[in-house]
Amino acid sequence: MQNPFDLDNPAAYLRWRDRKLARAITDTSDLIVEIKDPRALTTTEHAALLDRCQRSNMVIYASRSEEVDEETVRLFGLQFGLKSLDANWLAGEQGITRITVCAEDGQRQAYIPYTDRAIKWHTDGYYNPPERQIRGFVLHCVQSAGQGGENRLMDHEIVYLMMRDSNVDFIRALSAPDAMTIPERTDEQGVARAAQTGPVFSVNADGTLHMRYTARTRSIEWKQDATTLAAVTFLEKLLASDIPHIYRTRLEPGMGLLCNNVLHDRAAFVDDVAAQRLLFRARYHERIAETASS
Ligand SMILES: [Fe+2]
Repeated sequence: MQNPFDLDNPAAYLRWRDRKLARAITDTSDLIVEIKDPRALTTTEHAALLDRCQRSNMVIYASRSEEVDEETVRLFGLQFGLKSLDANWLAGEQGITRITVCAEDGQRQAYIPYTDRAIKWHTDGYYNPPERQIRGFVLHCVQSAGQGGENRLMDHEIVYLMMRDSNVDFIRALSAPDAMTIPERTDEQGVARAAQTGPVFSVNADGTLHMRYTARTRSIEWKQDATTLAAVTFLEKLLASDIPHIYRTRLEPGMGLLCNNVLHDRAAFVDDVAAQRLLFRARYHERIAETASS
């Protein structure tokens, strides 16, 4: 099959591009699908969720389910072929992480997801080794913040498309195996995570597009080459823009994001005095089934 992400095949790219733009969601409200029980979707609900994922690599579901736990999230993911949970040493037993402010736990406190601070644009697990790349995730909201905590979301295929349209050399530079390096992280015991060098854009074995990215300026080293740096600047400006392909949303209790690890950020928030913001996050090595494009 002809791959649209092959830089030597502009015809395949243009065919894919036309279809992608024609079907892409440009209104956040079209991204939201109401469901009853995340554990057992109806055929219609499943089809509606999958349709959004096929068009824009993500969907926001809104359920009325009150008693949601880690098992609910696991069962929800399974209905989309998501089964290889990424083992996270901070995660709970089932490999599903509770994202909440941890004022007491010094180990977690060192990580920004467990604070109330803003998180810049990124894809999940950009620091993971190649064999543990994150291709899909579910983020389920149990409790929203008193104020703030909104997310911006952008389909990484649209990011690719806009960069390739602007300058194909941007894609070439960000596909280089040495484009981006996350330095090693050390703690009292020594090296806690080895340095990871790799591309921003890569093509998965099934021909789909994968993206690793963080807008962090500390703890990241970009290849010091004019085209790479120009591509990074272009990407930063794109993500700071106000185009309809950037969705803005706030997950409320019962709502969740199912996606093929699209780009996302998080605004700072203030917890309600009565209840802390709490989200369940499940990260998977595979993409959502039946979402391969082209
Ligand atoms: Fe994230």
